[in-house]
Amino acid sequence: MSKVLVVVYSRTGTSRRLAEQLCSRLGWQLAEIVEERPRSGILGVFRCVLDSLLRRRPAIRYDGPFPKNFDVVVLVSPIWLGRLAAPMRSFVTRRRDHLPDLAVISVAGGTGQFAVAAEIADLVGETPIVSTTFTAREIDDGTCAGRLQFFGAALNSAEATHAAARRHVHPPKMAATRST
Ligand SMILES: Cc1cc2nc3c(=O)[nH]c(=O)nc-3n(C[C@H](O)[C@H](O)[C@H](O)COP(=O)(O)O)c2cc1C
Repeated sequence: MSKVLVVVYSRTGTSRRLAEQLCSRLGWQLAEIVEERPRSGILGVFRCVLDSLLRRRPAIRYDGPFPKNFDVVVLVSPIWLGRLAAPMRSFVTRRRDHLPDLAVISVAGGTGQFAVAAEIADLVGETPIVSTTFTAREIDDGTCAGRLQFFGAALNSAEATHAAARRHVHPPKMAATRST
């Protein structure tokens, strides 16, 4: 089984609830991204829109464990204007040199195809090993439970394949043997 860290950003609590369920069901560790300047009210929403349009990376605080100590980091982030929420963009960019394999869960108000995996690949140079979307509705009414379990299984299997491929490409160095 892989050692997994779930890193969540949530403005109104939906993504956090999903991340908490994921961790309690699968025994994974949870860490949260907090903003230096919280976004409340209509002005806060306006700032979300601007940050998305301008691809900004707002100031954040992350007090969680060092991501490289895990096999995989699962990013859980709301969708803003079809993209990764700006504080998650800040996290990925700031930590890009200290991230293991990534997986991503987008949380959206509606259904649709979001180019979040491609956005992360642009930021870190590697495509997430698993990427999926949950709607706020399935989180609120609890119907997400089955898919969460499936996500856990898919992630463990993708990580095992990925780790095997990495070992094949970069085999462990043999101990030096002395020639006589
Ligand atoms: C500025 C803004 C833009 C959004 N854009 C989208 C969108 O493009 N597509 C979508 O399905 N939901 C969109 N949403 C809805 C959020 O993704 C959804 O409410 C999500 O559950 C919020 O997660 P949170 O409670 O963890 O903050 C948007 C919300 C905000 C505030």
